Amino acid sequence: MIQAIRWDDGKLHLLDQRHLPHKEEWLTLTTWEEVRDAIRDMVVRGAPAIGVTAAYGMAIAARSGDDLRQAHDGLAASRPTAVNLFWALERIEQLEYHSPEAIEKEAIEIESEDRALCQRIGELGAALVPEHARILTICNTGSLATAGIGTALGIIRTAHVQGKVQHVYSCETRPRQQGLKLTAWELLRDGIPFQSIPDSAAASLMQAGNVDFVVAGADRIAANGDSANKIGTLMLAICAKRFDIPFVIAAPTTTIDSEMQTGAHIPIEERDPSELTEVDRRRIAPEGCPVFNPGFDVTPADLISNIVTELGVFSYPYNFS
Ligand code: MRU
Repeated sequence: MIQAIRWDDGKLHLLDQRHLPHKEEWLTLTTWEEVRDAIRDMVVRGAPAIGVTAAYGMAIAARSGDDLRQAHDGLAASRPTAVNLFWALERIEQLEYHSPEAIEKEAIEIESEDRALCQRIGELGAALVPEHARILTICNTGSLATAGIGTALGIIRTAHVQGKVQHVYSCETRPRQQGLKLTAWELLRDGIPFQSIPDSAAASLMQAGNVDFVVAGADRIAANGDSANKIGTLMLAICAKRFDIPFVIAAPTTTIDSEMQTGAHIPIEERDPSELTEVDRRRIAPEGCPVFNPGFDVTPADLISNIVTELGVFSYPYNFS
């Protein structure tokens, strides 16, 4: 299994996802500020992986004798949408003792728990996948995005091992192309049959009857089941409803924000215009071109057939308590 986060004697090693699939380069981080920047700059990304990384950021801060409040607030300001970030920081904050040893132990625990959560989500979700399934997914929700086999991709992996997966359609996921760069990299390594598709091909594939199951991850799930995920997920859910295809969200309960009643107030990260105006650092849009570049959208609960967590498979209307 790919392991993109490694903790080794007080140092955090991250596989730099900005350079995948071309280069497998590791960064070694020794200050919490470097950890914050790595999350912000998407060296590491994906909601559960961001949470695990932030916990290690706190472990580094404690070891260095830094002000823990400052480290907490700095890490919390790195990315706004994935609630796992805030969940992990809160879990560290709630510790009885804030010794370096206690924080390090908790961070290691958060990482190994996430690995187990992914495994369970994979098993529970695979039971929903029909035989000979042609599955469509978006973004990267695999080992690069978690500490384990992944969430949506964990379900695909588990269903593949069970012989249920005929084909995967992996949306390229504009503009950062996590699907084309990262999910394709993971699927190739696992030998799962797939094709990368332009995001805009999803609707016509569904219309042609070529998709049996749609599965995506989440960055934050409100108490009513409204789910924030990578921009473009909402379009997939609307299309799946139109063509009567199951649309499933997979996420650990660490992604559920029970304080948030609906998705209306989930903060949506707006990212740099250059993600849209440039390809491989070469400008393709005219100078002065105004850009709106939201990183996520919110799929209303009633468009989601099931939400799979490690605790079970939930259905609309959602009640996680
Ligand atoms: O901007 P990213 O790459 O961090 O966005 C990731 C996603 O939207 C994932 O679908 C989500 O975090 C779940 S990862 C298991």
